[in-house]
Amino acid sequence: MKKIVILISGRGSNMEAIVRAAIPGASIAAVISNKPGAAGLAFAREHGIPTSVVSHADFASREAFDDALANEIDQYSPDLIVLAGFMRVLGDDFVRRYEGRMMNIHPSLLPSFPGLHTHRKALEAGVRLHGATVHFVTPTLDCGPIIAQAATMVADDDTEASLAARILELEHVMYPQAVRWFVEERLVVAGNRVQLRGVATQHRGWIVPQPEA
Ligand code: GRF
Repeated sequence: MKKIVILISGRGSNMEAIVRAAIPGASIAAVISNKPGAAGLAFAREHGIPTSVVSHADFASREAFDDALANEIDQYSPDLIVLAGFMRVLGDDFVRRYEGRMMNIHPSLLPSFPGLHTHRKALEAGVRLHGATVHFVTPTLDCGPIIAQAATMVADDDTEASLAARILELEHVMYPQAVRWFVEERLVVAGNRVQLRGVATQHRGWIVPQPEA
C-alpha cells in the first residue's frame, strides 16, 4: 500500500478528486494545510482522513516553516507527497528531501506562465491553447519533469473565470490519473522527461506521457 500525504492551502477540490478516485493500492495518510481555515480540511475530516495544520504564520523564517512541515509529513512516512493548491513556495532543502516523490499541479501548460494569475496571463498573451500540468517538484518553481498535461482551446469570449472553471474540470481527471500512475510505479523519470510504462490510454483532451521505448 502506498501512503500519500496531500498538502493544501484552500478549497482542496483536487485533493477531493484524488480522495474520491479511491486509487487501488493507495491510502491517503493525511491532509496537511498551511492555513487553518482551508475549506478542504473539512472534507478530509468527514472522510476520516487525519488532518493537521502547519501555519506558515507561526514561523519566523521559511526554513523554520519547511522544517516543521517536513516533521509533520514524515510522521506518516509517505511514499508520495501531493501538492494540491498548496500556495507556499518551498525551500530547496525541503524539495530535495522529497525529490522524485512530490507532485504538483499547475494551472497552465508549463513552461508557459509559471507563478500566479496564469489564466489572466494566458488571456493577455492571446494563446489559443491553455491548460494544466502535473509535474514532479524540483527546486525551480513550476519547473520539474512533466507527468501529464491537459489542454483546452481558448475562445474569444473566455474570461479568467471561465478558463479556470474549464481547466479545473480537466485537473480533476488528470491529477488522480497521475497519482494512480505513480502508485502503479509506471512513471519513469529520465532527465527532464517522464515516460509511462505500459500502454498509454487516450484521455479526453489530454496529452499523456509517451510509453517507455
Ligand atoms: C488549482 O487550479 C491548481 O491547479 C492550482 O491551485 C488551484 C487549487 O484548487 N495549483 P483546489 O484547492 O484544488 O480546489
